[in-house]
Amino acid sequence: MTRLDFHRVYQSYRAQLDQVEFTLHDRAKSHQTVLAKASNQLLDAGGKRLRPLFALICGTTHQPARNIRDDVPKLAAALEMIHMATLVHDDVIDQAAVRRGRPTVRSEYGNLAAMYTGDFLFARAIQLLAEVDNTDVHREMSLGLVRLCEGEIEQIRDFYNWDQSIKTYLRRIERKTALLIALSCALGARVSAADARDLSALRLFGHYTGMAFQIIDDVLDFVGNEHVVGKPVGGDLRQGNLTLPALVAAQKPSVGVRLRKLIHKDMEESDAEEAVSIVLETEGLPVARALAERYLSKAIGVLERVSDHRVREELAVLTRFVAERSF
Ligand code: IPE
Ligand code: IPE
Ligand code: MG
Ligand code: MG
Repeated sequence: MTRLDFHRVYQSYRAQLDQVEFTLHDRAKSHQTVLAKASNQLLDAGGKRLRPLFALICGTTHQPARNIRDDVPKLAAALEMIHMATLVHDDVIDQAAVRRGRPTVRSEYGNLAAMYTGDFLFARAIQLLAEVDNTDVHREMSLGLVRLCEGEIEQIRDFYNWDQSIKTYLRRIERKTALLIALSCALGARVSAADARDLSALRLFGHYTGMAFQIIDDVLDFVGNEHVVGKPVGGDLRQGNLTLPALVAAQKPSVGVRLRKLIHKDMEESDAEEAVSIVLETEGLPVARALAERYLSKAIGVLERVSDHRVREELAVLTRFVAERSF
């Protein structure tokens, strides 16, 4: 039922999403065939296009019949390109082989080409943003991206660090993931007819939804089906990325010591398997799901401050999708 609702919202933005898709393909062009091919490989593999959808919905605030300005699809495409750039780089860091059900850019073209493909996508996003005539959008986006990079480097710093608190985890996911979703909502609102109150409510909505989104991603890394998720599962613990389910499990005295011992840089595959099964036996996953639900309730709560009914309802549908998603 949730997927049906989600698809209905998705369908109502079909025309604008097609425009976003056209722009993405158009801007992924380069006479350097590796850059063009690598970018297109990721583009054609699909993806949920959630950030563009958030931007499009918020970009129609108080615009009758989803009548939006020309630069909203450009903004939406820029957000997807930034997201794609972070994915290409993330797959280098994570040494991932599959993304969106296809070989990653790094596995097809190597890490060096992947670093430049990520940079190329970032540069194309900046080029698109320059065509959005709004300096507030430029300012908020650039400040946001600085913080996103800070979040990602903290992830590397905290690999294998069992002494990190849950607060540290939350600070990290706020920057590496929630921020771009908050930006998608806020920048969409900035190019619509939203007022200041709508703008801050939509930004906060994106923040709460983005927190839940990453927590669910971290849960799916333990319980997801690789073919459905479209990327390898079980990788977080194996590479020392300690996410909420693992941090909660480690707090349990009866298994915490064993878990900490199993996960280290030179662990064997059997150690990783034991660690995953320990996490699955504790309350790590239910606690994480419950926290995601709490963030989503906050997201729904904050929507009450948004004055456009249609926008409110469409965003509420997306939060249900985030809560129940399996991909
Ligand atoms: C993956 O994001 C990276 C995270 C922030 C968890 P998505 O799950 O939105 O990836 P695509 O775009 O659908 O592939
Ligand atoms: C999200 O973290 C990465 C970005 C924000 C790019 P993950 O490492 O969990 O993302 P996936 O699971 O590889 O998509
Ligand atoms: Mg990853
Ligand atoms: Mg993940």
